[in-house]
Amino acid sequence: MSATSWWRDAVIYQVYPRSWSDADGDGFGDLRGITARLEHLARLGVDALWLSPFYTSPQRDAGYDVSDYRDVDPLFGTLADFDALVARAHELGLRVVVDVVPNHTSDEHPWFTAAVAAPPGSPERDRFVFREGRGEHGEEPPNNWESFFGGSAWTRVSDRPDSWEAQDGDVPALAGPEADGAPAGVPGPGRRREQWYLHLFDVSQPDLDWTRSEVRAEFEDVLRFWLDRGVDGFRVDVAHGLVKAEGLPDADLSLDVQRDVTNLLPMWDQDGVHEIYRSWRRLVDERDHEPMLCGEAWVVPAEALARYVRPDELHQTFNFAFLLTPWDVEALRGAITESLESAEAVGAPQTWVLSNHDVVRHATRLGRDDAATIVVTDGIGPDDPQPDAELGLRRARAATALMLALPGSAYLYQGEELGLPDATTLPDEVLQDPTWERSGHTRRGRDGCRVPVPWSPSGPSLGFGPSDPWLPQPEAYAALAPSEQDGVEGSTLELYRHLLRERRERRLGRGRLTWIDAPAHGVLAFKVDDVTVLATVGGVSVPIPFDHRVVAASGPLDGAADDTVLPPDTTVWLTTPVASADGGVLG
Ligand code: GLC
Repeated sequence: MSATSWWRDAVIYQVYPRSWSDADGDGFGDLRGITARLEHLARLGVDALWLSPFYTSPQRDAGYDVSDYRDVDPLFGTLADFDALVARAHELGLRVVVDVVPNHTSDEHPWFTAAVAAPPGSPERDRFVFREGRGEHGEEPPNNWESFFGGSAWTRVSDRPDSWEAQDGDVPALAGPEADGAPAGVPGPGRRREQWYLHLFDVSQPDLDWTRSEVRAEFEDVLRFWLDRGVDGFRVDVAHGLVKAEGLPDADLSLDVQRDVTNLLPMWDQDGVHEIYRSWRRLVDERDHEPMLCGEAWVVPAEALARYVRPDELHQTFNFAFLLTPWDVEALRGAITESLESAEAVGAPQTWVLSNHDVVRHATRLGRDDAATIVVTDGIGPDDPQPDAELGLRRARAATALMLALPGSAYLYQGEELGLPDATTLPDEVLQDPTWERSGHTRRGRDGCRVPVPWSPSGPSLGFGPSDPWLPQPEAYAALAPSEQDGVEGSTLELYRHLLRERRERRLGRGRLTWIDAPAHGVLAFKVDDVTVLATVGGVSVPIPFDHRVVAASGPLDGAADDTVLPPDTTVWLTTPVASADGGVLG
């Protein structure tokens, strides 16, 4: 593995540990399961894997609620299992990126249990965002912020679920609302539980106060801990949320976080976050193997997002604007141009992504007529309009072939190389995403894209493990297992392998994009170095120029060899044969 800014054109595959491979048979994936299947990734041809959190956690938000940042949750294995995973990945030439979750801890993190036990104004409470409530007796939340999963972003300490105290033996029992004889909600002596704490996500995910140097020092130490264990980078969770606007003012709740200027909201994209990443960059730059930092920052406009990847900050951010772009020529052209220009302005490579563990998979999104308006984090349920699976997969393959031609780095989500759709008919009773409960059962949440991946066409969990999986798999998954696609011409798995091989050999990730005249309306047409890419996005078919050679095609082409037609919703990569000195054609 050479270390020449490897991240600039890397293809990074996201493994969601609880859903990739279950070695110990408890129905949840684990680290040993991942290690046993790393060869799948080496054969696929990616450069690195990114592991979603496997740290000690009560799992209230599938591990994004961390109670010990320096250990592995028993659900996933041990630190020794992690070391073995890294060693095997490196042996196979794969780098390993891990998640870091700095915006919030779990409410079972020792810092938070200590904070709740300590009085207002104590150093323990100052590590988090505790505030007095509004209203005569402090009975209203300190401001109007809402949790991303639904409901208020504030919980009063005395309103915390009892189950929490019951589970945590080392927290001293605290005075209840009636302890001093006063009615609930009225302050009185010893009423130290009446403050509120901020949680931009679930009630079990208290936000840290990043103005505290102790918080900063702790996370720098956490980064060092994993770097010492050999990791090659970090994906930074909620990278745009760490610093809140001074005084925590009310937010304009009419703003749309995906469309309006993000930092108009006081909890997102505040200037203070950049200093944190400057110090993290200094920290990773001390290591010779070029560890990389990629931020999960849902920030618009593109120029604001690009500020996170200035030369002394993060290396990358996810390009969610691309993920959210409708299957439409003008929209795609605009998103790609803006993405490339904004990143180039600060000297950073752009990244591309179509699916992850928070959004409806692209094979499903693109199979619905209303794809552009689907709220990608809300999920699809049995009573919603169901996607057209065939159309979705055809478009998804075309979108991936388009994405993998683009200069920069690309992220793949586990199972997309198999063409997996979301599970769109999960019954209510199996849903686990906190979104479902917190939204009062109005938003199903993200379970549909988190269903365990199939490895074989039969067995209790289609080869995922020896027992039933933690979420039921759709019937369609059986035929999509790698065992059914391996070596099968035209399968989605073979398409991904082929695209990744060509992308690597032609160094497309380091190439330059130029737009060219489209042969017809509804066709996206560009060149990356010597490769011409045509994508029929607008329901049209176009003849492929006869003097071009097809390097890759996302689906079957129509017509004979010298008269080939690109059907709708298909992407091709073409090269022009080189003319030889005697006028013949080579290549
Ligand atoms: C990020 C994660 C998501 C998680 C949230 C809170 O958006 O990707 O899965 O729920 O942060 O940590």
